[in-house]
Amino acid sequence: MEYHVKSGNPSALRTACLVLGVFTRRQLTGPAKQIDQISDGHLSAILKKGDMDGETGQFLMLYDIPGIQAERILLVGLGAEKELTLKSVITAWAGAVKQLNESNVIEVTNALCALEIKETDLAQRLRESVITAEDQVYRFDQCKSEAKPPKRPLKKLSLFIGEQKKSQTVLRAVSQGEAIARGITLAKNLSNLPGNLCTPSYLADQARQLGKQSTKLKISVLEEKQMQSLGMGSLLSVSRGSREPAKLIVMEYKGGKPKSKPVVLIGKGLTFDAGGISLKPAAAMDEMKYDMCGGASVMGAMAACVRMELPINLVVIVPSSENLPDGAANKPGDIVTSMSGQTIEILNTDAEGRLILCDALTYAERFDPAAVVDVATLTGACIIALGSQASGLLSNDDKLAAELLEAGNRATDRAWQLPLWDEYQEQLKSNFADMANIGGKGAGTITAACFLSRYAKKFKWAHLDIAGTAWRSGDQKGATGRPVSLLSQFLLKRAGQAK
Ligand code: BES
Ligand code: MN
Ligand code: ZN
Repeated sequence: MEYHVKSGNPSALRTACLVLGVFTRRQLTGPAKQIDQISDGHLSAILKKGDMDGETGQFLMLYDIPGIQAERILLVGLGAEKELTLKSVITAWAGAVKQLNESNVIEVTNALCALEIKETDLAQRLRESVITAEDQVYRFDQCKSEAKPPKRPLKKLSLFIGEQKKSQTVLRAVSQGEAIARGITLAKNLSNLPGNLCTPSYLADQARQLGKQSTKLKISVLEEKQMQSLGMGSLLSVSRGSREPAKLIVMEYKGGKPKSKPVVLIGKGLTFDAGGISLKPAAAMDEMKYDMCGGASVMGAMAACVRMELPINLVVIVPSSENLPDGAANKPGDIVTSMSGQTIEILNTDAEGRLILCDALTYAERFDPAAVVDVATLTGACIIALGSQASGLLSNDDKLAAELLEAGNRATDRAWQLPLWDEYQEQLKSNFADMANIGGKGAGTITAACFLSRYAKKFKWAHLDIAGTAWRSGDQKGATGRPVSLLSQFLLKRAGQAK
């Protein structure tokens, strides 16, 4: 899609469709009031007929409004004015884009960006408008023999900012929105691709492709042999049961001062998780192609960072493997030695995510990181705890946790913190090794994070469990691209380019 910024009086906007907000009890938003005045009360007269009162989820398309240049107006309900949040505006905007993309309109002007919302600034609202629009028009038809795209999809989006000037900040925010949206699209495409096509080798190739986009980005891919000599016995034990060789993908972006410590993002890149010898039940097992969403999301965040040319140093690490049952696969009771030297008794081969992440965490030490954030579809328990609304967040550093929670709030890609208290560590006790890879019945998300924390002692570290947020099931099945938005916001803030 193509983007423009427009300012001035909304009645002068030449557009196929102008999207305007209405609060409950038929309260018009600012730009809608201006149009109402110029059209001699046309909007309020229509609202009085009772077709719409401003509740969320309501839409009303109007034609031939006197006194204005726009061909149509799409009124969208925003709910109560007092309760207005970025989330509610974004949800309404998403609904509008979805409708328009399936209609005859190929160009739209969004006047919702002009609305003041507490705890947001214009730049944030512009970024979110662009990201939401791209999210709504996204389709994955790479694997269909014949794609059936909408007949007249949206091609052009204008962002209306009211009377204020089109400053550098405003224009930059729009291109940042585009960069983040592209990162999200990359993450969705990698995630939606099935396990037979999206293998560890494929992910590595995609990383190499990204590497071509900037001279500041260096890609290296560690092969099993190299991992062997590094002593990554935990990671390699997972890939032993698979015919696809494991890869450790490392992407280094140097946009900041040479000596400034990098942020390190680690993403679980398990391209298919059958559970191994502790085989998963058959129902919905196809969804375990999504077990690489963490890896895809950190690659997406890297893509966004590179495109925004952020003045920071960023390292992305994606340990990638399959988890399948096989004669050489891990067996319950097996004991492996991780790169850190700590030994692990594998009581359940389906708790493989932590086995590949722990070696990647140890590997991260060599970058002397400012902070490490790992992102993983780690536990079914996280879906039970938080559903699909929030990602789980656990951290050994409260400031880092607060920073990530804030980034999630601002980017409408929220996380919720769970405790990482010492007393949960007891659940990982093993009679035969330094630790077990599972922690028993209760607190599955926390004990998984406890396991990881044992490999993250040397730096500030946070863990995002995205098992519930990375994809949707059912007839809307598909990757969400979360938490690329949260991560991008976090990086923008670290780069001093967002609040
Ligand atoms: N990839 C799964 C977690 C998962 C399950 C994500 C379902 C999304 C939906 C992970 O590898 C796994 O299997 N975890 C086990 C851990 C258990 C054996 C301690 C789980 O959550 O059941
Ligand atoms: Mn598993
Ligand atoms: Zn898994």
